[in-house]
Amino acid sequence: MSINVAVIILFTLFHLVDIQAAPSSSRPKNISFDVFDQKTDTSSLKFQGDSTIVSGALQITPDTISNPDLLINKFGRVFYSEPFKLWSSSDDNVHASFNSSFLINLHRQPNWNAGEGLAFLIAPDISIPAASFGQWLGLTNASTNGNQSNRIVAIEFDTEKQDDYDPDDNHIGLNINSVISNKTVSLGVHNITLSPQGSTNHSVWVQYNGSSKLMEVYMGKQGEPKPDKPLLSETINLKDYVNQQSYFGFAASTGNNTEIELHCVLKWSLEVDDLKEESDSISLKIGLGVGVPAGVILLVLFGVLYVKKRRRKGRSDEESNVFDKSLSWLPEMPKEFKYKEIKKATNNFHESMRLGEGGFGIVYKGILNIKDDNTATEIAVKQFSRDRIKGKDDFLAELTIIYRLRHKHLSLCEGWCYDKGKLLLLYDFMPNGSLDKHLYEASNHNTLNWERRYKILADVASALRYLHNEYDQKVVHRDLKASNILLDSDYNARLSDFGLARAIDDGRSSYAELGLAGVPGTRGYVAPECFHTGRATPESDVFGFGAVMLEVVCGRSPVTGIDHHQHLYSLVDWVWMLYREGKIQEAVDERLGNEYVVDEAERLLLLGLACSHPIASERPQAQAICQIIGGTMSAPHVPPFKPTFTWPLMDAPSSSTTQSTVNSAATLSSKGFSATNMGDE
Ligand SMILES: *[C@@H]1O[C@H](CO)[C@@H](O)[C@H](O)[C@H]1NC(C)=O
Ligand SMILES: *[C@@H]1O[C@H](CO)[C@@H](O)[C@H](O)[C@H]1NC(C)=O
Ligand SMILES: *[C@@H]1O[C@H](CO)[C@@H](O)[C@H](O)[C@H]1NC(C)=O
Ligand SMILES: *[C@@H]1O[C@H](CO)[C@@H](O)[C@H](O)[C@H]1NC(C)=O
Ligand SMILES: *[C@@H]1O[C@H](CO)[C@@H](O)[C@H](O)[C@H]1NC(C)=O
Ligand SMILES: *[C@@H]1O[C@H](CO)[C@@H](O)[C@H](O)[C@H]1NC(C)=O
Ligand SMILES: *[C@@H]1O[C@H](CO)[C@@H](O)[C@H](O)[C@H]1NC(C)=O
Ligand SMILES: *[C@@H]1O[C@H](CO)[C@@H](O)[C@H](O)[C@H]1NC(C)=O
Ligand SMILES: *[C@@H]1O[C@H](CO)[C@@H](O)[C@H](O)[C@H]1NC(C)=O
Repeated sequence: MSINVAVIILFTLFHLVDIQAAPSSSRPKNISFDVFDQKTDTSSLKFQGDSTIVSGALQITPDTISNPDLLINKFGRVFYSEPFKLWSSSDDNVHASFNSSFLINLHRQPNWNAGEGLAFLIAPDISIPAASFGQWLGLTNASTNGNQSNRIVAIEFDTEKQDDYDPDDNHIGLNINSVISNKTVSLGVHNITLSPQGSTNHSVWVQYNGSSKLMEVYMGKQGEPKPDKPLLSETINLKDYVNQQSYFGFAASTGNNTEIELHCVLKWSLEVDDLKEESDSISLKIGLGVGVPAGVILLVLFGVLYVKKRRRKGRSDEESNVFDKSLSWLPEMPKEFKYKEIKKATNNFHESMRLGEGGFGIVYKGILNIKDDNTATEIAVKQFSRDRIKGKDDFLAELTIIYRLRHKHLSLCEGWCYDKGKLLLLYDFMPNGSLDKHLYEASNHNTLNWERRYKILADVASALRYLHNEYDQKVVHRDLKASNILLDSDYNARLSDFGLARAIDDGRSSYAELGLAGVPGTRGYVAPECFHTGRATPESDVFGFGAVMLEVVCGRSPVTGIDHHQHLYSLVDWVWMLYREGKIQEAVDERLGNEYVVDEAERLLLLGLACSHPIASERPQAQAICQIIGGTMSAPHVPPFKPTFTWPLMDAPSSSTTQSTVNSAATLSSKGFSATNMGDE
């Protein structure tokens, strides 16, 4: 097999590259934000909880003075997106020094009591503990406070006195894994009020000397030079408390009705010694690795499938061997994990780690400890249930697909495990869960502002375009819906669950072939023709995407009917009716208030209707969808009435185009759920 030989040669090349690339220098890494821009800075910064960028500043908690109700019990974090290495791997005594300066404004209105505070934070990951509002400053919460596994160090700027442990309501402190400071300094005596009457900007300098382990904090009003003397000065060996790779950023929180303020960071610069070492060639290796022709991977996988088929009657441990051997062969194969490791990571698949049920199995959260630097990595573990006969085939189908497909808006597989008939895939953990949660859970919906909604749809459209066009073989997703769209910490969307995905090169694959009872898609998202043909196509994916689009803009599920003047409408029919009556804007999620872009909303709604066209061939294709969302193509023309779907001949799947312009006014206005609204009822 000459191709396999080529793979080996490529591998050898990677290792040569590895050996040669071992530079070692120590220049500081510099990041600097003079102003924060929502358009350009959202990729270099990570936002958690209630944080955003507004008016050119980081708003670690919400920025509003007109509606103080929106400020109660908020908490947020913002991080620089890349971690920094804080000590050398090869020499324990070489620690990075760093300097950070920032401009903050803890604004309060005359009738507000100030509260609670802001912190400069070094943390092991970009997450935020739940319920870290009030006294917890976005740093810890009632259950994690003081726990050494937090691995955080922070400088707090505290405007609220907690009777148990704070000296006053205007102090700074050095915090280790806790909101109870190891050292505090009251600011009154230094003529500084963190949150005074009248808006005041303060400059802060935090510096750490990696040799002497001295942490110093300086502070002054904006425009004043850095003072000669630090306010706070403390020796602390960061290595004892934080991870080698740590993230830098800010956290803040507000309290209940009386203890509120704004927490703005207006400028930020950070300079950290860059401890360059051998391991830095990894990215180069990955970059080359992706270039391995997909054909090679396919070939190996077919090998796997073939061997597996032959051994079908064999015992499961035998099978396990086949898996192990064949899969380890794959050049791009991500890490293989031991069952034991995953069992531990998921706390023995404990109920509390359960994230949900997707595709053909249960999904768990897992926490892996990577040994070298003790960083905890969060993952999602998809367990393929054993008692379903289809399990292994699904596993292999999923593997075939995911190893060939790489796109930043598709969920990424990080590893796999096969043990005694149990099949597990490890995915990137998506801290913000699935889209439907944000749309429907009351505590979450305010996290989805208009900009995020628009971006999510653009992300999913680009993933769909990739699946349908940018790969040499067309791939259909088959089960596009809000719960299959996952959100990372920055609300970037990733399309997940390829359990039902299957390459369609010859049109043979179909729902029927999968041997599933009924149509596997989810009602409301399933194109009408699927009920007749039982086949998924790129066009039926587009239909599903249309449903998601309307869902995201309207904040309503395509599955639940809408009662309008005593008629029950499906989401599509309701939007179509509003469109016809010239008031399509009324379809926009009312929870957004006026906080959305009218043109954009209209464009998405029209596009959503176009994608919901009952006739498959009339729907726009993924390429056009991306252009319309991107604004480089105008919104589609949509007829005032939804065309009727008819399926003329059961055995002629391609003869449907002539029906496309038939209107169905009568059906639409007399009944909520007619034959035209397949899948709604
Ligand atoms: C880092 O940025 C600061 C502020 O912009 C600048 O003063 C300093 O010289 C920079 N350092 C390096 C090494 O680029
Ligand atoms: C931090 O600032 C001090 C004083 O301005 C400077 O001497 C030192 O080199 C800086 N260190 C780093 C890592 O930037
Ligand atoms: C604290 O945060 C953790 C992590 O987010 C969460 O699991 C836990 O439930 C939170 N505790 C409380 C009391 O909210
Ligand atoms: C600290 O946190 C770890 C991990 O979340 C947990 O297992 C442990 O029980 C916690 N310790 C205490 C004292 O709460
Ligand atoms: C800081 O405080 C924590 C808990 O209050 C304690 O465990 C730790 O030893 C203290 N560290 C220092 C350097 O004082
Ligand atoms: C404190 O600040 C105020 C106004 O910023 C100034 O008028 C006053 O002189 C300062 N007092 C001291 C002791 O520095
Ligand atoms: C705070 O700083 C920002 C950025 O330099 C500036 O636009 C703003 O006017 C300042 N605010 C006050 C109250 O000084
Ligand atoms: C850091 O500490 C070392 C050892 O005390 C000292 O020699 C060095 O000058 C310090 N560096 C800075 C920038 O202050
Ligand atoms: C507000 O919070 C403080 C302390 O966090 C608490 O003592 C007080 O009861 C709270 N007030 C209300 C109205 O919840």
